[in-house]
Amino acid sequence: MAKLRSVLLLLLVAFLALAFISSASAQNNNNNKNKNNKPQRPKPGFNPNRRPIQQQGNRPQKQQRPKPQTQQNKPNLNANANSKVFTTTLPTLGKIRGRTALTDWTGKSIMQFFDIPYGKAERFKAAEAIAPWKGILQAHKHHIGCPSIQNLVKFASLEENGVDIEDCLRLTVNTKSLEGNAPVMVYVHGDFFYDGDSVEAAPGYLLEHDVVLVSVRYRLGPFGFLSTLSEEMPGNAAVTDLILALKWIQEHISAFGGDPERVTLFGQVGGAALINVLTLSPAVPMDLFHRVIYQSGTALSPAFITDSPLASTKEIARIAGCKSLTKTDSLHRCFNRMNATMLLAAFSVHGENKPSLSAGAYGGIQLVIGGPSGILPEHPGRLLAAENFKAYPTLGGSVKHGGTFMMRDIFVENLNESTSNAKMTGAKYIDTIIEQINGDDPTGSWREFAEEYIFSEADIKNGSFKRLTPGLIDLCSTIALKNPVLLVLQANAKKLPNNTFLYTFDYEGELNRYATSDDEAVDVPFDMGVSLTDENLYLFPWPRVHMINANRDVKIAKRLVALWTSFAADGIPRAEGVPAWPSLSDETGPYMHIGRTVTFGENYLDEYSIAVQEVKQGYSLINDDYYELEAVLRDAFDRREKNPSKLNVEEEEEDDEQEDEEEEAADNEARGQNLVFIAKRRNYKPAKVLSVQQ
Ligand SMILES: *[C@@H]1O[C@H](CO)[C@@H](O)[C@H](O)[C@H]1NC(C)=O
Ligand SMILES: *[C@@H]1O[C@H](CO)[C@@H](O)[C@H](O)[C@H]1NC(C)=O
Ligand SMILES: *[C@@H]1O[C@H](CO)[C@@H](O)[C@H](O)[C@H]1NC(C)=O
Ligand SMILES: *[C@@H]1O[C@H](CO)[C@@H](O)[C@H](O)[C@H]1NC(C)=O
Repeated sequence: MAKLRSVLLLLLVAFLALAFISSASAQNNNNNKNKNNKPQRPKPGFNPNRRPIQQQGNRPQKQQRPKPQTQQNKPNLNANANSKVFTTTLPTLGKIRGRTALTDWTGKSIMQFFDIPYGKAERFKAAEAIAPWKGILQAHKHHIGCPSIQNLVKFASLEENGVDIEDCLRLTVNTKSLEGNAPVMVYVHGDFFYDGDSVEAAPGYLLEHDVVLVSVRYRLGPFGFLSTLSEEMPGNAAVTDLILALKWIQEHISAFGGDPERVTLFGQVGGAALINVLTLSPAVPMDLFHRVIYQSGTALSPAFITDSPLASTKEIARIAGCKSLTKTDSLHRCFNRMNATMLLAAFSVHGENKPSLSAGAYGGIQLVIGGPSGILPEHPGRLLAAENFKAYPTLGGSVKHGGTFMMRDIFVENLNESTSNAKMTGAKYIDTIIEQINGDDPTGSWREFAEEYIFSEADIKNGSFKRLTPGLIDLCSTIALKNPVLLVLQANAKKLPNNTFLYTFDYEGELNRYATSDDEAVDVPFDMGVSLTDENLYLFPWPRVHMINANRDVKIAKRLVALWTSFAADGIPRAEGVPAWPSLSDETGPYMHIGRTVTFGENYLDEYSIAVQEVKQGYSLINDDYYELEAVLRDAFDRREKNPSKLNVEEEEEDDEQEDEEEEAADNEARGQNLVFIAKRRNYKPAKVLSVQQ
């Protein structure tokens, strides 16, 4: 039965895709040729080929640097056997069932309360508070979470069984004591606003220190972000979820031993962008939180913002079969009438159908500027420039090579997995990256920046993808991650020069969340380096199948955890054996290199071209194996041209293997996959480049 249901659902998605394509091609025959040729993948996820590390099981990683010995027989203190269910009474809330766990390093006892409801929301509308529960709240196990395309089949079958799957506003609390007054760390998960899960904030490392760890679910994708900039669909619904969760924390966290006067928000990429919006938004009440940590992102990351959501909202409506797209009234009626499964499926097809990652192309995954939500009256860049925001003690930075994550998608989606293309010049490669990561660049500021700060004249002249690779990766990291973080910290430091801490996460450990494993070493022509979300491997023992184990990795984890938790405790990040961290007192420094050792840099702009500099130091992200294999294949191809029969057998075998891989990819319950990192910003002149050039 369950099988049948998922088959039906996949048929629905496939049907939507087909209907959409045929209507689109009827309207525009010329433009959609390649869409028709592109195999439709009726399955959740924009790009099912991306395989984050947790699915790679024990497959070894490609080694580029000498790897450490792993410590084999480490006891797993957090194993389920040690977990007990218990019931307690929270003074302000009522009876609750929780679960015990142990911290990972010293086996301290933790109480976990999963997915406590904190609010309710009508579809697309601002979230509202709810009364505490009656009876015993079953908080010893996880809720299914907010509807997301990654689990489309599961959500569809729940909805079919009458579950209100949109009722998902919940938060998880981990604490060691219900009596204390410990600093509270609130994790806002990322994954580009359409995916991700509060479950990843596993407490086993952070609770080695005295903190209460909260992780929040907010509405994802179309439920959290779709907008017509009207009262009916104001947009930014997910931000209202977070505001409500923070109010709940103010009211109730002391019942869990947390200090409501020391609340620190932290998150990476999309999570960091949401947190940044909470600091900037005039709609956020004062004193809901007290410090913030941005990991590899802020609201200035171009992917996360749009001021013109209407076109893609209508497109999703069209895919879902809404009849009248021009009258907003009937558009809203249609959106409100369709079931959650339909909305998700239409959103999924909408994403699948985009031929490129191009700027602002997807709807339902961006914060909106303007509109009646009041969350962002102006572009965050303008709010920052006008110093029209409240400063908080802030810790922020980026992973060193975060751009590889986006480069992989650009290589696949835009460069058609080719390293050689007669039409591509050095300048064209650079423009492609800018177009994909930033969107329009009408003044050519990013182009100018790239030519001046990242690429040499010789690079651009040579123009081969291989030679440009490190610089293209830098360009991705800079536009999407590093520059947005620096600008926000600079603005904050103007107001709080003693409480603004900037870092780069440089540590390349044994694991890497989006690594190229041996099997896939030839997947893309570059390595992932210190890639996006890698720092989370050292903050959370998650996923359990892929936890750090090597001694030197654990040492880094202890350091990172000490820095993050001490900052949460009193606003000063510190760790044993680490020199005092100087605040960002100058425009671009000092900043901390969190690597095998800790050092300090003076000018964070050096990080904007780090992969290029590393080539000069003998370390390159270029994947030579890829080029070797490419040469072998080219050779074989040439030989086959001469003698066609010879290689047939080998080729068939290769096809089989490919099928296996594809099946495996389909089985993977993939998360943290690629997404558009990009938004159009027509009216916003990037202040970023100006400050870079000062
Ligand atoms: C949702 O709506 C679609 C289209 O009307 C329908 O085919 C599907 O069965 C519905 N699903 C549920 C769970 O109600
Ligand atoms: C990739 O393929 C698409 C569709 O065939 C084509 O439009 C595009 O120009 C190609 N890109 C490059 C860089 O060759
Ligand atoms: C361009 O750079 C690539 C990669 O470094 C190199 O293999 C190639 O020989 C260079 N081509 C020219 C014409 O210099
Ligand atoms: C920052 O710290 C310095 C030295 O401790 C102090 O003189 C200065 O007043 C502080 N500035 C602010 C804005 O707190």
